[in-house]
Amino acid sequence: MKFFLDTAIVDEIRQVHQLGLLSGVTTNPSLVAKSGEVFDEVLQEILTFVDGSVSAEVISRDAEGMIKEGERYAAFGKNVTIKVPMTLEGLKAVHHFSQKGISTNVTLVFSTNQALMAARAGATYVSPFIGRLDDISFDGTQLIKEIADLFRMHQIPTEIIAASIRHPMHITQAALSGAHIATLPYKVMEQMVKHPLTDQGIEKFEADWKKIKQV
Ligand code: E4P
Repeated sequence: MKFFLDTAIVDEIRQVHQLGLLSGVTTNPSLVAKSGEVFDEVLQEILTFVDGSVSAEVISRDAEGMIKEGERYAAFGKNVTIKVPMTLEGLKAVHHFSQKGISTNVTLVFSTNQALMAARAGATYVSPFIGRLDDISFDGTQLIKEIADLFRMHQIPTEIIAASIRHPMHITQAALSGAHIATLPYKVMEQMVKHPLTDQGIEKFEADWKKIKQV
């Protein structure tokens, strides 16, 4: 499973890029609002150093509007992925983009049928939101597993992005359930690297090193 970063904060993206872990970036209107930046500028800056897929989300409700927005974003770079909501109009737009060789990420996926429809419309990626399902007492991880089984069974090439990640356990669960990618907030990536025994081990080695006679 690969890692995408779910943020519109360029500094966070640079940090993870330096680790060599970054395969792509997803943004959404809420994340852009949180960054306080102008989205066109953010997108352009991300594209100067990220080679993997960078999702830019459309906000129109009708296919025509989505296509107009998406084609404008697609002109920013070859690795721009147009993020489209899981609606009938969204599927129409996805079909259009796939015919034109523009990659798409169908977002706000909460059921296996939605994922199947998106894939058949030509989506490059589908994004099941596991955290938001867990929030309402549904099993988000089970949804990932079901979609992964179904895509495997029917040889569907669409990749699954586990989205709406809340904590490190979601990452392990998504990976073991067959997600191709997880898009995670920077905070979760920081949490994942931590283990108290690692910290204790470093302290102990440092303390013991100081007891060794130096030449
Ligand atoms: C995914 O592409 C979305 O941007 C994101 O994962 C949504 O997460 P949230 O439920 O924490 O808003």
